[in-house]
Amino acid sequence: MTELNRNKIFSNAKQWILEAGKIIREKINDPLIVDTKSNANDLVTTMDKETEKFFVNKIKSEYPDHLLLSEEGFGDDVKSLDGTVWIVDPIDGTMNFVHQKRNFAISIGIYHDGVGEVGFIYNVMDDVLYSAIKGEGAYKNGAKIPNLEEHIEFNNAIIGLNHFWLCENRLVDEKVMQQLVRTVRGTRTYGSAALEFAYVAEGIIDGYLTMRLSPWDIAAGIIIVNEVGGVTTNVSGENVNMVETNSILVCHPSIQETIIKDYIVKGKK
Ligand code: IPD
Ligand code: CA
Ligand code: CA
Ligand code: CA
Repeated sequence: MTELNRNKIFSNAKQWILEAGKIIREKINDPLIVDTKSNANDLVTTMDKETEKFFVNKIKSEYPDHLLLSEEGFGDDVKSLDGTVWIVDPIDGTMNFVHQKRNFAISIGIYHDGVGEVGFIYNVMDDVLYSAIKGEGAYKNGAKIPNLEEHIEFNNAIIGLNHFWLCENRLVDEKVMQQLVRTVRGTRTYGSAALEFAYVAEGIIDGYLTMRLSPWDIAAGIIIVNEVGGVTTNVSGENVNMVETNSILVCHPSIQETIIKDYIVKGKK
């Protein structure tokens, strides 16, 4: 991807994400149709679908040869990251959107031949836009986000994690995960994977641990976190496959090994 193309893609995507966010804010109190997908708590609304269609229309008219991998099924059937692929979550944190009308984001990661080039995470109700171009740093509303601190101690860390880790689960002994919760300084659950990535980049949490995420939940976040020196793998420390679901550990590099070796591997079922 040439620098010229990349800059143009960045400015188009930025304009579209801000526009989509504005529409959501304007309609935030309109009646919603809420449906369920895989289970009673897996929600989707008319707003998720309309927002996704908004991006499909914009991307396809400006870039007919680009592909779109997105959650609600209006994009393409993407099997590999060859060429330029836009990975879009129109609303990340649909449960928060429905129940709280805040704490949700639009996430867009743009990959070229498998390389993450441009990422955006937009906290819609707070009007806060996280962005990154590969190799050019990460930004929050246009201000550069500093690199992560050189070193942090695990017992001073704040970790984002879902409470399902503490219930009986298929991956890790919950007793071991309870020990993790007792060892770190604090834990948080925000309900939007994209925002949790953005918070790791900002350094307001030090890691985020989750059992199963889709490409659209993480595509932008990986690019943004990478720019400040954060690391993303699955919970076994392996590279993430961007066209499949993965478990995810995104964190400050100095606590990655501890989380994997002393907790995930130790408690592995
Ligand atoms: C969900 C959110 C949530 C995470 C789920 C995701 P959605 O995305 O990111 O925080 O725990 O695994 O599916 O469905 O609201 O776009
Ligand atoms: Ca969903
Ligand atoms: Ca999502
Ligand atoms: Ca979504």
